[in-house]
Amino acid sequence: VKVVVTEHIFTDLNITEEVLAPTGAKLVFVPDPTPAVVLSHAKDADALLVCWTPIGREIISGLERCRAIVRFGIGVNNIDMASATSAGIIVANVPDYCIDEVSDHALTLLLCAARKVIPMDKSVRSGTWDVRLFSPVFRFRGKRAGLVGFGRIPRCLARKLKALGIEVVAFDPYVKPEDAAEAGVSLIGLEELLRTSDYVSIHAPATPETRHIINEATLRMMKPTAILVNTARGDLVDQVALARALKEGVIAAAALDVLWDEGISPDDPLLACDNLILTPHAAFYSEESSAELQRKGAEQARMALEGKLPVYALNKEIAERWLKRWA
Ligand SMILES: NC(=O)c1ccc[n+]([C@@H]2O[C@H](COP(=O)([O-])OP(=O)(O)OC[C@H]3O[C@@H](n4cnc5c(N)ncnc54)[C@H](O)[C@@H]3O)[C@@H](O)[C@H]2O)c1
Repeated sequence: VKVVVTEHIFTDLNITEEVLAPTGAKLVFVPDPTPAVVLSHAKDADALLVCWTPIGREIISGLERCRAIVRFGIGVNNIDMASATSAGIIVANVPDYCIDEVSDHALTLLLCAARKVIPMDKSVRSGTWDVRLFSPVFRFRGKRAGLVGFGRIPRCLARKLKALGIEVVAFDPYVKPEDAAEAGVSLIGLEELLRTSDYVSIHAPATPETRHIINEATLRMMKPTAILVNTARGDLVDQVALARALKEGVIAAAALDVLWDEGISPDDPLLACDNLILTPHAAFYSEESSAELQRKGAEQARMALEGKLPVYALNKEIAERWLKRWA
């Protein structure tokens, strides 16, 4: 039994080894995540554990006996789901390992941006002790936060925002108003959300529909005092338009944990924006969430190897066919 790991974000894979031990699986690491190299190792793999590596049609069509592709994470936009489904391969993720961490991180970014913590710290260190340099700063209580996407993470964030006296609204075309109401949140249209929110936090997945949902036109709908936070996926925000909007004062500030790429070029105009906070795709991370991610990810692979449908299987439409083949 062979399990291929394309790459991972853990300090070691001890938990994975422990979880997979009963299956007798041999873990194989891919030295370089380019399609040809991945395929040369994964051709005869029984399962794949992946993080960022794009798993496209080219790789999937070369997998000879793979039962499952498991993403160590929530977003599966790097996996070609349609190809996996037509190849009869189950795709699974770990949807619930970092709900607190990401919502805490979004809140932290918002609080730091609104309270101007980072420029204040910089100023104090350079020898200037003067709060007047940082006006205006506004009170949180009574403001409105607009959440774009209303899945697991923003529901958790909504509770934290409410504790600060912030009103929460959301835009999510796939959520029932009664479910949002149960969380004490009203669903409104995207344009109304952008026009009326003091803070906009992005939590929708990267899909063709959400690509650049924040762009030059939608940035112009926002209040000039508004703060934008993105902990979802870089693709949802047009970075070039955002850099311009921050420079021209179209919105007041932004904080991004995710960018178009994993990394940023030294000449990117975003780096010249003082009213922007950047973190390196760190929202998911805590010691506890990492251990949970690794354990739950490896468990998905173990279930597949044991002929059981992984509990976090996403393309469940092939479950019957899959179980017939592997159970
Ligand atoms: N920065 C990080 O470290 C990190 C960690 C985990 C997750 N994420 C990202 O956070 C985001 C949210 O995660 P989650 O666990 O809340 O997801 P989830 O799957 O629970 O919810 C996603 C929600 O987005 C909604 N949605 C889909 N298309 C939409 C659209 N066009 N407009 C508005 N809403 C739409 C869905 O209806 C669903 O309610 C995802 O993009 C995920 O990849 C980032």
